Amino acid sequence: MKKFKDYYGTAPAVSVSAPGRANLIGEHTDYNNGFVLPFPLQHAVHIEASFTKTQTKEVVVNLVSSLYPDNKITTSLLHDKTKTWADYVVGSIKTIAEKEGITNVTINVFVDSQVPVGAGVSSSAALEVATIRAMIALFQINTIDDVEVAKLAKKTENEYINMPCGIMDQFVSSVGKQNYALLLDCKTLQYDRVPLVPHYDWLVLKSGISHQLVNSEYEKRVATCQNACKLLNVDSLRDITIDEIDRITILPELEQKRARHVITENHRVLQSVEALRNKDMKKLARLVLESHESQKNDYEITVPQTDAMVDDSLKFGALTARQTGGGFGGSLVVILEEGKKEAWWQQMKKKYPASELI
Ligand code: GLA
Repeated sequence: MKKFKDYYGTAPAVSVSAPGRANLIGEHTDYNNGFVLPFPLQHAVHIEASFTKTQTKEVVVNLVSSLYPDNKITTSLLHDKTKTWADYVVGSIKTIAEKEGITNVTINVFVDSQVPVGAGVSSSAALEVATIRAMIALFQINTIDDVEVAKLAKKTENEYINMPCGIMDQFVSSVGKQNYALLLDCKTLQYDRVPLVPHYDWLVLKSGISHQLVNSEYEKRVATCQNACKLLNVDSLRDITIDEIDRITILPELEQKRARHVITENHRVLQSVEALRNKDMKKLARLVLESHESQKNDYEITVPQTDAMVDDSLKFGALTARQTGGGFGGSLVVILEEGKKEAWWQQMKKKYPASELI
């Protein structure tokens, strides 16, 4: 594999990384100011970078990814978006450059990503967080903590990429810790790390169905939830608790279904945290399955194959499973008791040859 030096002639000045994520439970609740419980993957995006000072005010960016080793890109913060993966890097550099008043530089970037793309495990959030970390290290900025990194990465996604996502992916990539789930209150940004129970396998299974249509459908979900809020006269669906769920009966059918998912899902996240803390895996298993059903019936973001893969996972010995991430394919989170993985995986791989363990 070609390295930073092969492209830029010198060693990199900094080397950073940021992981992808899977979401244990709490789907499409983040932009509704609710609760989420994701965990970071072992796989990360690695970035090496350097910079040189220049005479022109512009910030010029050279970048190349190990995924496309023959395609070195040169652009500047004044240029139009490239409509490629490079936009996540350039957008993140722009966010920091504008914030910190960085000008008169050429920045060299080499990206090596181990996070699968299109698998619903936030390769783009990892790329944004890693780029922001690289900028912080390069320009020795000491005023931006991990929570701020997540906010700036989300700002990039919302304002530069134009994707109206919530903060879950960027937050867990920046603040999460291996072997811990991260309970995040997306309204206050208060968080707590909850250990994953040992003696279980916490797996992420790529379904083989790329979640391509996700952007337009995602935007529709965001808009429907906003409409539900308007009709209910609340700031966000988070403001309605499970005890008040009857309030949604005034909504049209579609808004009602979407709101029911969000309100029940918020409740399930909090219950799951309790179950994890009490090592009550039976209860957690039930909540995870209920979450999948709610995504399928009320939020309508699953696809027949991920529904079938959840059913078959249970049939082949898993404790529980659900589709994870934005939806329409992507990946599943699967939990198995120790010792059951091999038999389960043999049968799943046979039935779904395009699936892969991440
Ligand atoms: C995508 C978005 C997140 C979140 C999830 C669904 O990953 O980027 O903000 O909304 O979908 O839970």
